[in-house]
Amino acid sequence: CGGGKPDGKALFSRNCGFCHPGGRNVIHPKKTLDRETLLKNGIQGPEGIVEKMRNPGPGMPRFSEKRLSDEEARAIAEYVWETFK
Ligand code: HEM
Repeated sequence: CGGGKPDGKALFSRNCGFCHPGGRNVIHPKKTLDRETLLKNGIQGPEGIVEKMRNPGPGMPRFSEKRLSDEEARAIAEYVWETFK
């Protein structure tokens, strides 16, 4: 491995894209990933998105530290926060 930051975009499409294509939510259509909706739902930034992966609500699988390291989770969260506005 060449080191450096994990690729948040690639990790998002692999782990999240099935239920959140384009930042939408195919299971719970109101719970999208755009910043305005996240803020409305109390998710205030990348940290809150990581928290959601570790402790999701009904219908979303939990992403444990075994599945996604803290660094990988953080890269996904930053990608989500910066991409879906
Ligand atoms: C909700 C992120 C994977 C289904 C959410 C929310 C975030 C998020 C930030 C809250 C949205 C809001 O309140 O507006 C992610 C990330 C994923 C991922 C970063 C990958 C690591 C998945 C997958 C599924 C899924 C694979 C379906 C199998 C849901 C559902 C909700 C939700 C049903 C609504 C329940 C809740 O608020 O926890 N997701 N998600 N997610 N996601 Fe995901």
